[in-house]
Amino acid sequence: MTPEKTFYLETFGCQMNAHDSEKVIGTLRERGYRQVESEEEAGLILYNTCSIRDKAEQKVFHRLNDYKRLHKEGKRFGVLGCVAQQEGENIFARAPHVSLVSGSASYRKLPEMLARLEAGETRITGLDDRQTEETFETEFTARQNPYRGYITIIEGCDKFCSYCVVPYTRGKERSRSSSSVLEEARRIAGLGYTEIQLLGQNVNSYRDPEGKCSFAELLAAVGQVPGIRRVRFTTSHPRDFTRDIVEAIDAVPTLCDHVHLPVQSGSARVLKMMAREYTPEWYLERIGWIKAARRTISISTDIIVGFPGETEDDFMQTMELLAEVEYDCVFAFKYSARPNTPALVMIDSVPDVEKSNRLQVLLDRQREIQRVNYSKHLGQILEVMIEGQNPARGQISGRSSQNKPVNFTCSQPIAPAPGSYVQVRITATGPNSLTGVAV
Ligand code: 5AD
Ligand code: SF4
Repeated sequence: MTPEKTFYLETFGCQMNAHDSEKVIGTLRERGYRQVESEEEAGLILYNTCSIRDKAEQKVFHRLNDYKRLHKEGKRFGVLGCVAQQEGENIFARAPHVSLVSGSASYRKLPEMLARLEAGETRITGLDDRQTEETFETEFTARQNPYRGYITIIEGCDKFCSYCVVPYTRGKERSRSSSSVLEEARRIAGLGYTEIQLLGQNVNSYRDPEGKCSFAELLAAVGQVPGIRRVRFTTSHPRDFTRDIVEAIDAVPTLCDHVHLPVQSGSARVLKMMAREYTPEWYLERIGWIKAARRTISISTDIIVGFPGETEDDFMQTMELLAEVEYDCVFAFKYSARPNTPALVMIDSVPDVEKSNRLQVLLDRQREIQRVNYSKHLGQILEVMIEGQNPARGQISGRSSQNKPVNFTCSQPIAPAPGSYVQVRITATGPNSLTGVAV
């Protein structure tokens, strides 16, 4: 009898990575592998890695080191994702117990790579596909999220912002055909999902290879798939953000009231060094379109503080933009130099203490902005999709269409299931969440 094939997979990084893992899990299951919950139980240990910032990257090497001893028991190790693509065969030198190193652009070849692994090969790589025109599509996706169905519409990135590893790790931009996206949306709806999230490093630079529709048209079409009640999309580059996206949100009720539009900096000078190819004015014009919509659309963003050469005055301009836009959510990061990127040669001039200081100033200000924004929901009735519950506190948690976390109580003895919808009256608000009761 052949021994049972088991795998353990841990995922780091963004939603793209989380969804890639769903496809990798499906591919492994299709080859007869069973997923287990710990490294100790598994025959094959996989890490799907992230290298967006220094800290994210360190994690995988710590993990590989922590579990090195298991190699003696015959367990095999594989590194997938962005660190795999970035470090390539250096991983074999740094962690000789690793047998498989593959970037996301090579996942199409996973069945072949797994066959080689099973045959006993110990130096298998999938690193040469960054220029591919093909996307990784599989009917075997093992959806792990019980309430949100992810669909990749575009892979890779051609923007080459000067600080960013993604074009190097995920490769060239390539879009999936609109008919295959819509087919997957219908399949997901058939599985009972009512929320879809369209994914890509830059969803609005979507170009339908069949030439049938623009990103906004695809968004609207997904929103009209029977059974779908919520559609989200992430992430957007301001360069490609067109007005018809706002028009689609206004026209199609299932498209959520939320746009994530990373600005990165409020200083024209810094934006230029970042190679973002827009000015703060140009960005604010797009914010103006979003704010002029008939629906109240929530806006969130990403910001980097302490980019090489960022002065106190540049940072103040970011603070001014923050106050002007009044975001509902901000993901802010200290700049960290990344391998291969153009910014690597720039002098990382802002000392780490100053980066931390700017980050704190920004987050403190943002907290106050959110406190005011969230307080506007007091007394409103919002539709909440349930995501989980905290029995200890007797609370159910979910999100509004605007993506705001809502914690609420329900007088029914049995709490409604994740993925179902409840009308909630908001009775209290804080800077990061809303509290209420089911009505
Ligand atoms: N340093 C700090 N933050 C970064 N991001 C991307 N690259 C870097 C970097 N080198 C941030 C950006 C991006 C988000 C996903 O991560 O804000 O939008
Ligand atoms: Fe991390 Fe970027 Fe790769 Fe996502 S695409 S896993 S954020 S490096």
